[in-house]
Parts: sequence; C-alpha cells; structure tokens
Amino acid sequence: MTELITLFNHGPVALITIDNPPVNALSPGVPERLESALEAAQADPATKAIVIIGGSHTFIAGADINEFAKNIAAGKPGGPSIHNLLAAIEDSAKPVVVAIEGAALGGGLEVAMAAHYRVAVTSANLGLPEANLGIVPGAEGTQRLPRLIGLAKAAELIVSGRIIKAPEAMTLGLIDGIIVGEFIADALTFAEGVAQTRPVPKASVRPVEPDPAALPAARELAKKIRRNQTAPLLALDALEAAATLSFEEGCKKERELSAKSLTTPQAAALIHAFLAERAVSKVPGLPKDTQPYPLNKAAIIGAGIMGGGIAMALANAGMDVRIKDTSQEALDRGLATVCKNYQNSVNKGRFPQSVMDERMALIHPQLDYAGFEEADIIIEAAFESMAVKKQLFAEIDKVAKPDCVLATNTSTLDIDEIASATSRPEMVIGTHFFSPAHVMRLVEIVRGKASSDRVIATAMALAKKLRKVGVLVGNAMGFVGNRMMFPYMREAQFLIEEGATPAQVDRALTDFGMAMGIFAVDDMGGLDLNWRVQQQNAHLIKPGERRPLMLQKLYEMGRYGQKTGRGWYLYDENRKATPDPEVEALIEQTAKDAGIKRRPITDEEIIERCIYVMINEGAHILEEGIASRASDIDAIYFSGYGFPAYRGGPMWYANAVGLQKVSDRIEDFGWQPAPLLKRLAGEGKNFE
Ligand code: CAA
Repeated sequence: MTELITLFNHGPVALITIDNPPVNALSPGVPERLESALEAAQADPATKAIVIIGGSHTFIAGADINEFAKNIAAGKPGGPSIHNLLAAIEDSAKPVVVAIEGAALGGGLEVAMAAHYRVAVTSANLGLPEANLGIVPGAEGTQRLPRLIGLAKAAELIVSGRIIKAPEAMTLGLIDGIIVGEFIADALTFAEGVAQTRPVPKASVRPVEPDPAALPAARELAKKIRRNQTAPLLALDALEAAATLSFEEGCKKERELSAKSLTTPQAAALIHAFLAERAVSKVPGLPKDTQPYPLNKAAIIGAGIMGGGIAMALANAGMDVRIKDTSQEALDRGLATVCKNYQNSVNKGRFPQSVMDERMALIHPQLDYAGFEEADIIIEAAFESMAVKKQLFAEIDKVAKPDCVLATNTSTLDIDEIASATSRPEMVIGTHFFSPAHVMRLVEIVRGKASSDRVIATAMALAKKLRKVGVLVGNAMGFVGNRMMFPYMREAQFLIEEGATPAQVDRALTDFGMAMGIFAVDDMGGLDLNWRVQQQNAHLIKPGERRPLMLQKLYEMGRYGQKTGRGWYLYDENRKATPDPEVEALIEQTAKDAGIKRRPITDEEIIERCIYVMINEGAHILEEGIASRASDIDAIYFSGYGFPAYRGGPMWYANAVGLQKVSDRIEDFGWQPAPLLKRLAGEGKNFE
C-alpha cells in the first residue's frame, strides 16, 4: 500500500506527491494528508517554495466519484469538503506551485487554482467537467476560474465540461508555464524562480472583469447542449455570484448551489452513468488475468457504410486495416465515403490534413483475401443475411491465422450459427458497431456459446483501444439494444394507430430527453431495413399477437426514410424533416379500416408506453442473463441509443420511477410484467 502523500525536500523546494491510484482522486484521507504535508513544509525554515504533483503521471481527476455514489445510495448526497485545504494552499506564505501531468479535473483543477502558480506539460488535461456528473463545481472553481480566465470562457468551459490542453490553458491565462523538459526537474526550477516573489499571486483577490453578455450567452449554450439539465444552470448562478459578490460570499453561494445539485435525481443518474460506463469492462466470470490476443492488424469484409465506418474507427486508433469487397465499384464507393468523412473533419479543424493522410494510408482496399493471413482480427461487415455470413466465415476460416479473432458485425443474427461455418467456433465473436461506426461509442460484444475467454478479452480490449464502450452481451435475437428497441418501436406505432401522430410521439420522446424520436430514427436507419428484419423474424410472432399496420404500407410505397426523401416524414435536400399530411391521412384511414377508434393521447401515455415496454424487455433480458447487469443495459442505451444519460438509462430510470409503479402501469396497459420486474417490485427492490 502506497503512502497517500509523500514529501521530499529538494534543496529549498519541498516536493509533495499525491499517490492515490489510478487517478489521485480526492478520496477520504487525501485532502487531510495533503494539508498536513503543507503544514510540515511551512514549518521547515529551509523550505522556500512548495511544488505539488500527482503520482502515476497524473495530477488529480477530482473528487472521488465512488464516494458521491456511496453517499447517494445511503440517502445522504454530498462529498468531502476541501475548503480547508484550499485555504491552506492559497494562504501559504511560501509560494505553492502545482505542476500538472495527465488530468487536473474538477476538484483537481480547483486545487490547482488555489495554488499561486500552475505549470503543466503540453498534453495535460484541464477542466471542470462536473456538469457531466450533474453537479456544480463545489470547491471554489466557479469563483476562481472567472477571475483567472474571464467570465465568458469560464462559463463556456463549465457548461460544456470541455477539457482543454495546456497550450489553450496557457493562452487563456489558466496556467503560468508549459513544461517541455524533464517534468519534476523543470517544476522544481520554476518553483526556485518564484520562491522570493512577494506578495504571492492569489486568484481569489483578482477582480472578475464585467462582461454582461457572458452569462446570457452561456445560458443559451446550456439550452442547446445541456437540454433539460439543471446543474449547468445552477453553475451559471454560481458564476453570477462570482461577478456580483465578494469572493467569500460567492464561495458561500457556490457551496449552497453545489450541495443542491448533489441532491438532484439528475446527479444520481449521471454519477451512475459514469460508473456504469466504466463497470462494463469488468466482465463477471472472466478471469482478470485473461490475456487478450495482440491487436495490430485488422481486416474487414464489406466496404459499405458499416465496413467503412469500422475501418475509420480502427485506423483512428492506429491499426493497419485491409478492407475487402466483391467489386471495384463497391470498394471505390466505400473509400470515397471514408475520404469524404475525413475531409469533413479536416475542414472543421478537428485535425490537420497530415493526420487524415496518415489514417487513409492505414486503410488498404482490395478485392481478394491477400494479407488476411496476417490479420489479428477479421471483422465481417457484409449484408445482413445468414447465408451470406456463413459463406464468408467458411472462407475466412481457410485464410485466417490460428489465433485470429473472427468477428461479425451482425446486428440480429445468431452468432453460434455463424460460428458453425468455421472449424474454430471458439475464435468467433460478435462486435456489433453502431452507425456511423467511427462516431458512435457503443459496441455490443456478443459472446457465442463457444467464444473463448481470450477472444472475449480481445474484443473488450478492441473496444477500449477504439475508446468505445464495449458491453458484453449474450447471443439472443437483437442482443440487448435492438431487442429492446423492437417493442419500443412497435409500441410507438400502436400509439399512432390509436390517435397520436409520428411528430407528437417523437416530440414527447425528445422532450423526455431521447436524442431523436423513434420515427426519425426509423427514417434514418431505413424502413426497408426495418421491414427486412421484421420479415426475417416473422416466425417469432405469436398467434393472435397485435402487429403494427403502417410499416408494411410505407415500405410498399417505397417510403424508405431519409434515403428516399420520404418515410414517416418528408425530407428536404438538407434532410430536414417535416410531418407529411399524406402519412397522417393514411394512418387515420388504416386505423379506421382496422376498427381502431382514435382518441387524444397524452405525452405522459406516450412516454409510459414507449419507455416501460423497453424496461419490461430489459427485465426479461436480465433474467435470461443476456445482459449481466442492469447497468450494462443502461450503458448500452445511453451510449448507443440516445437515451438521456441524465436519466441514467432505462433500468436506472425504472428504479427511479419505482418498480412497483412500472409494474402496475404495465398491467394497466394489459401487458404481462416480466417475472423479474414483478418479483423485485413485490420485494421493494431495484434492478441491479
Ligand atoms: N473518482 C474516482 N474514480 C475515478 C475518477 C474520480 N474522479 N476519475 C476516474 N476514476 C477511475 C475510473 O472509475 C476508472 O476506474 P476503473 O479502472 O476501476 O474502471 C479509472 O479511474 C480510470 O478511468 P477511465 O477508465 O475513465 O480512464 P481514462 O484514462 O479514459 O480517463 C479521466 C481518465 C480523464 C480522469 C476520466 O476518468 C475522467 O474524466 N474522470 C472524471 C473526472 C471528473 O469528472 N472529475 C470531477 C469530479 S467531481 C468534483 O471534482 C467535484 C468537486 O468540485 C470537488
């Protein structure tokens, strides 16, 4: 066990190191011991200046988020107070320098801002990302940041949670120097250089420069990028206090607002989301020491939208990628799309042309299997047909090296049946990417019954390497995400038959927080694709089961969605959707022909039916072991299906509503609650 804090004297400079792996969070004990180390340095007459750094090449990633979660679960939301520590740093008679490698985030940056000087390596990450957790920075960050970089920039950084690198921090005036040489040596030299400076510079005594436009602009930004979220607005109230009150009174106001934010359901949900996203990599039953296979070279079959997107995701992570298709035309089209996507990023200034050139050079289009024998992983992203996939897996089985992972990007098909086409089902796994694959963060990793532990560990490692959220799921129709999506989509269609319109359903869903309405999603994915999946699964329909009536009609009219300019909506040349009276009239006629009496439908009913049907399916999935944890389902939904993270994901949302209520409403709607839901509701428990 390492010491949390160590102090070493380097001549006239005391070097204090925080060692609380992995990210030096301000867990209980850290602030207190840091304060004691500061006191010791103060008391030592030989010490003329103090440098604080973090061990393991990172400074402090903020308050300990696990502590927040524990306190919320115990019904006592709150975090540790570090105000004494901040005062001890800023009031130090000897200059205090914080030297930053890695992350200085949240409470970490707040500690740094209390110091008299800040220096950082070029790659350091600085920010106040508390809005991502639904909370207001609570350690004087809203009061010091505007004093250092101005109100407008402070407001933008706090609302967006944007993390900046040292060069930008330097331009803004957040840090005083960039370290380009040896980290500790340069930090000590910097401290020696400022050791005699008096008075020491304190952020708290600087004025906040008036900027009447700053907060209204930030409120607009919050509306746009933090729709329905309370914490960013509360943080702006704290910034307003910084602009109008003394530092001490501003801090008091910030404390109240921060404490208030921590009691909100949004904070609980977002903290859950943060931890759920990280829990996915801990696979129950997979030995921790399972060694993944190497992942340097990849090959992809299919240069369509998915194949091209996956190729980009792999090349972005520095992997060498071969991409095969059956015709030169298909390859050219696929590569042209890849090129266009990269060019858009260059045009938007996301990275320079040289980065695009490097990434393009990693992608090798080809018509045959040449070089596939060197691939560490082959990802099949061909047409969604079992016959096609089995044929391809039989082919790659012949060319792939023995320890090559054979992955399929199927979104619905049976992995075991695909694996049966090979002589090595233990090497086969599903990697279900979401479109566009170079952007979307989710990958469902589908274990077949034979997939080996090493193959599972490799697929999980691939997701990590691509900086995606890889969630291990079982092999069932639609896996987790799509399996829950099907009843959701079906219910939305029943609602329009009964009296709502696609636009009303979509608006209710986006008001609830979904990134897109379900009909808009269907238009984007393609009604033809949806129809094909329905046809493939027609055998699963139980006799007498109610089926939606509209999809087939629109499909037969050639209304495939955005790609044909019309689907549930009409689209203009900029893909802007407008409701189509023709569709609405057809819905009314269809309902009439089917004897369905239309009635006004409330937004509340839309949300309950759409979301509860999804939750009920999620409960079946949990019970069947297709997902290992409720939080995995949540991670799938907020990282891949546009479910609002500030509601925690569908299963967290169900817990928040109360499982008894969800179960009762499901019965009111005439559906059967999943046995797990009913049991947990009866026992007064939650999904876990
Ligand atoms: N508290 C506790 N654990 C944390 C943590 C924190 N603040 N930040 C990261 N971790 C843990 C993660 O849970 C993860 O744990 P496991 O290895 O057990 O899964 C580990 O550190 C590594 O994290 P990542 O997997 O995310 O690694 P990364 O390299 O991709 O990212 C990071 C590192 C940039 C620090 C990222 O973890 C991050 O953004 N952390 C959160 C930062 C944040 O929000 N800070 C504000 C906290 S609130 C606050 O400080 C309030 C205040 O005003 C005092």
